[in-house]
Amino acid sequence: MAKMEITPLPTHVAIIMDGNGRWAEERGLPRIAGHYAGVESGVSAALCFADYGIRFLTLYAFSTENWSRPQDEVAGLLQLFDEALTKKVRVCLENGIRLRHIGRLDGLSEQLQQKIQSVVEMTKDNQRMTLSIALNYGGRAELLDAVRRIVEAGIPPQGLDEALFNSYLYTAGLPDTDLIIRTGGEMRLSNFLIWQSAYSEFYSTTTLWPDFDRKEIEKALLSYSHRERRFGGLEAKGGNRD
Ligand code: FPP
Repeated sequence: MAKMEITPLPTHVAIIMDGNGRWAEERGLPRIAGHYAGVESGVSAALCFADYGIRFLTLYAFSTENWSRPQDEVAGLLQLFDEALTKKVRVCLENGIRLRHIGRLDGLSEQLQQKIQSVVEMTKDNQRMTLSIALNYGGRAELLDAVRRIVEAGIPPQGLDEALFNSYLYTAGLPDTDLIIRTGGEMRLSNFLIWQSAYSEFYSTTTLWPDFDRKEIEKALLSYSHRERRFGGLEAKGGNRD
């Protein structure tokens, strides 16, 4: 499909994929059907962002707070992630997509942990895009885990700087997020990438996640391309216009 001329583009996009439940309810379907549609939307979004040359995409699939949903929805979601990892690894391999997990692995079933480790291993040499799936992820949990590991490593206070701190986060090695997209109409970060988003641009749309297609992606990227990013200074950085 023809690509739009959009410049500059973000290097790292992260998405809060909200609205699966409402999408299903609007159709008289069980909520889990919305989550199944959400996976398909996630795969096509990843392919579209890769087509635009976005090198890093991070998707918020399941938060540390999502355990408080009704038990059957949680069980359905975990089953869905297991199935999706099995079924979608091929499309990642065919399209140069490297999969990565961010979040607490312990807390997930042994089987899901193994599945995650296996798809991460299978795709580790892919170079086109790194797709990080935030599963059992919480920003505060990530910061606490980093601090615990820093203390355990015996790092003295004066030896700690932002670069070293970054290397203890789940996202070690990933650049900061440039653009955070939230579908489903809410305007909050919901404990997502709270360190990494310090200077991110935020884009919110009322479109529900299963409807977030190529046109919607282009709208978000266009909006980003018009932002002025100053990172606390006075001059625009990174070539963004206006
Ligand atoms: C929000 O919908 C979505 C989630 C709780 C995350 C589940 C996400 C997926 C199943 C897509 C995963 C895709 C990939 C590729 C990993 P909601 O239930 O909060 O919607 P609502 O606000 O309408 O109730």
